Amino acid sequence: MSEEALLKINGHEYTLPVTVGSEDEIGIDIQKLRAQSKCITLDPGYGNTGSCESAITFIDGEKGILRYRGIPIEELALKSNFIEVAYLLIWGELPNKAERESFSNQLTEHALLHENLKHHFEGFPGSAHPMAILSAMINALSCYHDDFTCPNSEETLETASAKLISKIRTIAAFSFKMFRGEPFRYPDPKRQYVSNLLHMMFSLPHKRYDASPVITRALDTILTLHADHEQNCSTSTVRMVASSGANLFSSISSGVCSLWGPLHGGANMAVIDMLEKIHQGGLDISKCVEMAKNKDSGFRLMGFGHRVYKNYDPRAKILKGICDEVFDELKIDQDPLLDIARKLEEAALEDSYFKDRNLYPNVDFYSGIILRAIGIPTNMFTVLFAIGRLPGWIAHWRELYLSGDKRISRPRQIYTGHTERSYTPMEER
Ligand code: SDX
Repeated sequence: MSEEALLKINGHEYTLPVTVGSEDEIGIDIQKLRAQSKCITLDPGYGNTGSCESAITFIDGEKGILRYRGIPIEELALKSNFIEVAYLLIWGELPNKAERESFSNQLTEHALLHENLKHHFEGFPGSAHPMAILSAMINALSCYHDDFTCPNSEETLETASAKLISKIRTIAAFSFKMFRGEPFRYPDPKRQYVSNLLHMMFSLPHKRYDASPVITRALDTILTLHADHEQNCSTSTVRMVASSGANLFSSISSGVCSLWGPLHGGANMAVIDMLEKIHQGGLDISKCVEMAKNKDSGFRLMGFGHRVYKNYDPRAKILKGICDEVFDELKIDQDPLLDIARKLEEAALEDSYFKDRNLYPNVDFYSGIILRAIGIPTNMFTVLFAIGRLPGWIAHWRELYLSGDKRISRPRQIYTGHTERSYTPMEER
């Protein structure tokens, strides 16, 4: 394997060192490029640019491979659970019995919000989007836990992680209750993570909500599938913000804001919106596929395509199977949106436009259909994505913090504006 790259420009030759990862990915190290050649690289959207070296998650987009700390997502989805996976992502190894018990106890211990924080919800209009509430409340949390906002030891990081992972669930449930105009339901210390989330969302003073094991397991697996995805937009945002020395809570809050976008975590909402429009409009599937191919139509096949996966997103494959389990459990034998989704997928996968561009269903294509079947409203979908992605964001914040790389992230640019010109006085404008 060549240990260096050769760059010829402006009549000069520059040799650039090469980094090879544990899965033989090759990175041309350009850290000294500008100093040597006065040139920079240009890569809008960073599709060809590595921002860091990381040991957390490996994706092979061509082969549709996703592994957390080396363990294939298929195995984790089948054999593990969200809290164990959160521990694996953050600390690099699956927890042993004692570690899992200690972390689980911390999650129970830190499930409540400070009572003053409860009043923050009254300041939001009933129509407030839960993602706006989530990012605001995570920052507000830092005011009540300022001793954990910059964890500088594994012990304080474990407590900070437990606080965030446990309280994000309470914040999500309280925002859901506010949206529904129902009284908040407090966490039940006897319930496991997902069962407690569903309890806080759906229990009422006069009616307990106990989700079936199939539904609880399905949602737990959805969170596991969303737990990390290397340098995606929101995780890169968390790392970018953390590079300025910003605390863990504010870095996470910025990740929530990035995830909200419809091209990223907001796609699960956009998929349902798309399917409902097709259903209500009685639109013809083949016409929808044609529209998605026509850039001027402004219509994209939401839940399709991916910056990295140029093969079927392995998470979408698993979610497709969970769809059937949930629909069987809920005895839903007919769901028009699922039918439309399946027909869209079939039509797109046979169409050369999608095949030529390696556009396949991604994690968002089926997740919304499952969440909707469970009774979770569309505006909470991306909040569920954020709950799932939180351990990944924490893992990357920790990795950056431990890396000792204290340089602030600050990309360069190629300036294309006016060259120097003088100020024009008002009378001459
Ligand atoms: C997530 O990064 C991650 O890991 C993200 C994520 C995670 O876990 O964090 O996996 C979660 O965000 C999944 C993606 C959810 N977003 C969507 O489903 C929105 C719909 N998909 C797209 O907008 C798009 O595919 C992206 C944003 C996901 C990827 O965009 P890219 O890599 O910038 O690709 P592109 O826009 O340059 O598209 C390449 C070509 C273009 O056509 P040409 O210019 O080559 O003719 O494919 C076309 C695009 O027009 N295209 C689509 C399309 N997605 C890409 N055409 C129709 N429908 C689509 N969905």
